[in-house]
Amino acid sequence: MSFITFASSPLVITPTVRSFTFSKPCRSNNTVMSAVRSESTSTCPVLTKFQKDCATPTPFLRVIANAIAGDMQAGLAVHGGGDLEMILTYVDALPSGKEEGLFYALDLGGTNFRVRSVQLGGEEERVVATKSDQLSIPQTLMIGTSEELFGFIASKLAEFVAKEEPGRFPLEQGRKREIGFTFSFPVNQTSIDSGTLIKWTKGFNVSGMQGKNVVACLNEAMEAHGLDMRVSALVNDGVGTLAGARYWDKDVMAGVILGTGTNACYVEQKNAIPKLQNKSSSSGTTIINTEWGGFSKCLPRTSFDQEMDKESLNPGEHLYEKMISGMYLGELVRRVLLHMCKTSDLFGQSVPAKLATPLALKSQDLCKIQEDNTDDLSSVGSILYNIFEIKADLKARRRVVDVCDTVVKRGGRLAGAGIVAILERIERETKRMASGQRTVVAMDGALYEKYPQYRQYMQDALVELLGHDLASHVEIKHTKDVSGLGAALLAATNSIY
Ligand code: BGC
Repeated sequence: MSFITFASSPLVITPTVRSFTFSKPCRSNNTVMSAVRSESTSTCPVLTKFQKDCATPTPFLRVIANAIAGDMQAGLAVHGGGDLEMILTYVDALPSGKEEGLFYALDLGGTNFRVRSVQLGGEEERVVATKSDQLSIPQTLMIGTSEELFGFIASKLAEFVAKEEPGRFPLEQGRKREIGFTFSFPVNQTSIDSGTLIKWTKGFNVSGMQGKNVVACLNEAMEAHGLDMRVSALVNDGVGTLAGARYWDKDVMAGVILGTGTNACYVEQKNAIPKLQNKSSSSGTTIINTEWGGFSKCLPRTSFDQEMDKESLNPGEHLYEKMISGMYLGELVRRVLLHMCKTSDLFGQSVPAKLATPLALKSQDLCKIQEDNTDDLSSVGSILYNIFEIKADLKARRRVVDVCDTVVKRGGRLAGAGIVAILERIERETKRMASGQRTVVAMDGALYEKYPQYRQYMQDALVELLGHDLASHVEIKHTKDVSGLGAALLAATNSIY
């Protein structure tokens, strides 16, 4: 039987809050309550077509998982070989547990910016103390100048550091405090502590940054704010998640983010990376940042996906991300509903004005819609009224639920296919699952954390594609906010002192 276990952590920042393992034999055990009212579909041609276009039966998902695997291989062979960047992260050594000292972590990558301090006490004591601040990034900074964005980050870091006590790790003379900088956008990494921005994603579009060294931008801003600190590790949030989770659990082999954006990073054998052959050593392992959001082949994209993409800040890019991550699911549903309104009398004779507002519907709203188990779908009614001022009858509410379910099912199942591609790649090189070894995927992101239906669809796809035998050795471990710890640990591992 397949089951979901909920685990709470005994330690202050031990990351696991929820995980699931697959044990065999696996029966479909959909414990998630979901408001799916399929009887309404037959009478709405737009919905029927949309459902058909979004369908992801197992054989089709297999084709997608194989195509992702093919692009992974192509990207490992040569730079730009496939849709997936397969970025070399220069993280060859994952945390050992012996790390000691006070380190900082900055995290920029989505709607929030975080700064954290971590006091590491070595193998015995592990994390002695940690403090953090979180702020949302003002929308204007996401599309402003690099000086404004990095100036904001440095000023918040300066405020945080000014309040800090060094604890048992006073700064030795001639040394600087070291930072792990989690920058969650595609970066062409040139060393562990430098990298140039390839492109923006997730609604960011800061001018003049493409091709610029992001660490140099931060250094300049820190200097301007009188901060004498240095970035010792530049990491993606997927890499930070993998590193932070690995600190507590040696079986962690991959880090996956399903939040505003999406990504997967995993442990690869160096001798399986052709594009690394000319580099100094080709033995051991290294972390690859796949940037899987850029995958684009054979995806079940509808006209709504195409229009949403066309009007996005990064048209033609990150197409897989636009089908599976939190930033886009609500917007896609809104577009389908708007079209249904225009072509039928979904919400009466006129088209509600607010339904035309881009990004008005969030993935959190979809989740609440799907969780409504009342007979008259009263929460669905309130949500539609509160967001769009729509008074929907029961038939219309049912259709809204069906649209949400279609988008979320497709997203969750496609994400599952991606995870299978990563797991099968790990398996191909290590045979660890076949030999009965537990293999853990560290997972972070609000979409995964807060959307039970999405998680369930993802889990179903994973078992369908992997098969019960391999799946029984896989654990998807929810490791909330662990990427900051991972970045601080990687700053420690790569300390210059
Ligand atoms: C970025 C990745 C990041 C992911 C999750 C994507 O848009 O390209 O670098 O890891 O979002 O934050």
